[in-house]
Amino acid sequence: MNILVTGGAGFIGSHVAEAYARQGDRVVVVDNLSRAQLLHASPRTAEFTWNLLAKTPNVSCVRGDVRDAALIADIVRDVDAIVHTAGQTAVTTSLTDPVADFETNVVGTFRVLEAARAAGRAIPVVFTSTNKVYGENVNALGVREAGARYVFTSGHEDGVPETLSVDHTKHTPYGASKLAADLYVQEYGRLYGLPTAVFRMSCICGRRQFGVEDQGWVAHFVISALLGRPLTIYGDGKQVRDVLFVDDLVEAMQAFIARPAAGGLVCNVGGGPRLTLSLLELLDFLERETGRRPPVRFADWRASDQRVYVSDVRRAADVLGWRPRTSPADAVRAMLAWVADHRELFQESVS
Ligand SMILES: NC(=O)c1ccc[n+]([C@@H]2O[C@H](COP(=O)([O-])OP(=O)(O)OC[C@H]3O[C@@H](n4cnc5c(N)ncnc54)[C@H](O)[C@@H]3O)[C@@H](O)[C@H]2O)c1
Repeated sequence: MNILVTGGAGFIGSHVAEAYARQGDRVVVVDNLSRAQLLHASPRTAEFTWNLLAKTPNVSCVRGDVRDAALIADIVRDVDAIVHTAGQTAVTTSLTDPVADFETNVVGTFRVLEAARAAGRAIPVVFTSTNKVYGENVNALGVREAGARYVFTSGHEDGVPETLSVDHTKHTPYGASKLAADLYVQEYGRLYGLPTAVFRMSCICGRRQFGVEDQGWVAHFVISALLGRPLTIYGDGKQVRDVLFVDDLVEAMQAFIARPAAGGLVCNVGGGPRLTLSLLELLDFLERETGRRPPVRFADWRASDQRVYVSDVRRAADVLGWRPRTSPADAVRAMLAWVADHRELFQESVS
């Protein structure tokens, strides 16, 4: 197969690219390396993945922008599947620069879909959407404190289902732009017969994740713990997320592409109720593993933060024949080992 991975120099995209290249498929990665402009990100970290992929057999790297309709159409003409991960990823950046957020997330996704439609073949498209499409409706589910974490009160033991309303709530520009793109992906699946899959993902983590304060919290905590850097927790730290190891996510994407269904799949993809962490629990775990706790400062809650988000993964499990497998402990240990081996990459980034 020929696979296009947009945003392929990023965290998730690079793992998708590697997985397909390893099994002998040809992968085209398109990335404009804009991740380097994210607040606190180091250009060295952005270049690291790019250079790694450039040396990977079966991977071609194209430095380009998903908003470039001609470029994307040209590449899509020859591909058999698309994994679209390129995006503006930080809620905080979307608040200060909603134009860039809209153009990257909405227009960029639209260009990818249009290129697939114009190709006139049933090209599977996997879109990396987010739990943020549900906005603050998640908070209305009812949560209570239980030790170092919040939990849903009752009736949501399986997590947040895809049927939760996306209406009548605050979203943040990031939530709105991802939702607009999410709807376009669904619509192109229904209208034009493209086998599209919207993966509404919560917290994905793994090796090579250059988490910063604004995005990728598990990696940000891991890096801070190992380098002894101070951390700011917005809120009380009892916020809970389900945690999915990136290798498990790639398996879910591959399962869809191997048996793509027409009509527009929408599913929540995450670690689910078994694989969750609160911020405070992660700090405790890191202290046990590294022998030290990073200095922590507490600040006000962030706009539209969700007290608990846990994905109901039953639809993804049923449709894809897939299960999240890696425990948060194993995921975090793998990340600690990777960061410890690549300390030099993080020396000049500021947290
Ligand atoms: N990591 C998570 O926990 C998570 C959770 C939910 C959703 N997502 C979504 O998954 C996708 C990938 O996330 P990630 O964690 O790998 O982020 P990432 O920042 O590591 O990767 C995104 C990549 O897209 C590239 N990019 C941005 N704008 C581009 C453009 N206009 N043209 C070409 N490339 C561009 C960036 O340079 C970066 O390399 C994003 O769309 C994000 O919204 C991620």
